[in-house]
Amino acid sequence: MKTLFYRICVVFAMVVLVYACTQPTPAPQVPADFIAGDSNLVGVTAQWSRIAGPYVGTAGPDGSFLGTAHSSRDTSVTRTVYARNNFVTIAKDANGRYPVGTILVKYFRRRSDSVIVSGAMMVKRGGAFAATNPTGWEWITLNAAGNIANRFVSDSAAALCVGCHRTRMSNDYSWSLK
Ligand code: HEC
Repeated sequence: MKTLFYRICVVFAMVVLVYACTQPTPAPQVPADFIAGDSNLVGVTAQWSRIAGPYVGTAGPDGSFLGTAHSSRDTSVTRTVYARNNFVTIAKDANGRYPVGTILVKYFRRRSDSVIVSGAMMVKRGGAFAATNPTGWEWITLNAAGNIANRFVSDSAAALCVGCHRTRMSNDYSWSLK
């Protein structure tokens, strides 16, 4: 026969367990500046949010404006855009800016076998980078392995990218984020 003390102990243990399990895990702190590396580009296709595409040719939000950029005249590839922020929900702040830590990846895939051939990436930086580069984005190209190929160190170094994306200044330089 179980003692009253035993029963109280079991109930107490259950209460402690339920309390521990319902405590939210603390959200990771948004860094002052966020510098992405290849290690951030994991599970993009399977786990990130697909926010646009796949597009082919002039399909897409502003396809005819693309010219030859982003492989848009090469109908053997598709363009698909994915988004991720490990710290906070991706939503515009009071100034119409998306949060530091936001990563946008666009993969170019061969249509015949869906193999990635290259990519483009935008990373929302903060701190000194954002203070001196009005877009606040770091503009990056990706290679066929899906790794970083080329980092443009500033908005002016990324003048080609920014020159086009400026059209979307009212949406913090992004077409695909809504
Ligand atoms: C000729 C204009 C043009 C140029 C140049 C350009 N982009 Fe884009 N970019 C677009 C358009 C339009 C989209 C919308 C998606 C689509 O149609 O593929 C886009 C989408 C993107 C996306 C997906 C997120 C979003 O905002 O939709 C990334 C990432 C991106 N571009 C990065 C770059 C980078 C990096 C460069 C420079 C190396 C660059 N872009 C140059 C027009 C341009």
